[in-house]
Amino acid sequence: MRVLVTGGAGFIGANFVRWTRAHRPEAQVVVLDALTYAGNRASLPGDVELVVGDVADAEVVDRLVAASDLVVHFAAESHNDNSLHDPSPFVRTNVVGTFTLLEAVRRHDVRLHHVSTDEVYGDLALDDPDRFRESTPYNPSSPYSATKAGSDLLVRAWVRSFGVRATISNCSNNYGGYQHVEKFIPRQITNLLDGGRPKLYGTGENVRDWIHVDDHNAAVWTIVDRGRLGETYMIGADGERSNREVVELLLELTGRPRDAYDLVSDRPGHDLRYAIDATRLRTELGWVPEYAHFEDGLAATVQWYRDNEAWWRPQKDATEAKYAQLGR
Ligand code: NAD
Ligand code: TYD
Repeated sequence: MRVLVTGGAGFIGANFVRWTRAHRPEAQVVVLDALTYAGNRASLPGDVELVVGDVADAEVVDRLVAASDLVVHFAAESHNDNSLHDPSPFVRTNVVGTFTLLEAVRRHDVRLHHVSTDEVYGDLALDDPDRFRESTPYNPSSPYSATKAGSDLLVRAWVRSFGVRATISNCSNNYGGYQHVEKFIPRQITNLLDGGRPKLYGTGENVRDWIHVDDHNAAVWTIVDRGRLGETYMIGADGERSNREVVELLLELTGRPRDAYDLVSDRPGHDLRYAIDATRLRTELGWVPEYAHFEDGLAATVQWYRDNEAWWRPQKDATEAKYAQLGR
């Protein structure tokens, strides 16, 4: 099976390539990645075929899709804070890029899995007993989540109107190795390893539903293998924690007092809580997460950043300079 992985040099895509190598050795992987600030050749095994190109470039996409049996689409601009500063690359990559890919898989009748986020559903109150499920109406808050919602709707329309063979997954917040230090968990870990302090937006009460990246990628393969075409599957591992709880755990794991963090200015429009009900994935497709305890996965992630400073160090100063400009 020839698998085209878009965005394969990013956090989840690179972990997907590594997971595929370990569990699906028969798959021939080709990565298409523009190597933006978020893409890193060093995240991939050295012998993986990498085509450096833009998912919105119809010519390169057509050639690669024509030679594939399956496309797994991770390529995106992925950081909310960046989308508030400059939304334009989000519209281009997330919306036009997905459109470009859809036209190619339609032309060549190639199976597509579209990787999306739970953020398309907006947010929940802290005390809401409900969680996001496949039928929850779309209500995105930020330019990032709005462009991801747009890309999901394009996929749904191409399935219905043109019979494209596609599935969609909407996953909660991922953590693990190879995540850019702009994101919450790696930013705090690397601050701590540098002798600095974690930075909590607002009051730190916002809740995210954490899942280990390997559990996400195992779920993507489960959907590729057994998912019903045209369907959407929520992916989540019952890992709700407030940002403050996560920071307190990280402080404990690195031997600091639990209150040695800074509260900084909040993100405009900051979604309060995400929570996923992954019943369909569990009952229809039999998926179960391997990382049952967030605390264990988080400890392993701290260790990964300790062991891989050469990977993250080149990103750190520029990232913190951007945050300093935002006053965060
Ligand atoms: P990331 O920012 O780490 O990686 C994105 C990758 O896409 C990078 O390698 C980048 O170079 C590449 N890319 C960007 N623009 C491109 C373009 N125009 N053409 C080709 N490649 C391009 O993101 P991530 O966290 O790995 O997220 C991957 C996917 O998973 C995204 O679609 C995101 O919406 C989705 N997702 C992420 C999370 C999360 O917690 N990180 C959760 C759910 C869903
Ligand atoms: P982030 O990793 O940017 O993911 P998302 O916005 O997609 O959920 O942020 C996760 C949570 O952590 C979110 O509530 C914002 C918060 N946050 C901080 O409190 N401090 C930080 O330094 C960062 C980057 C995020």
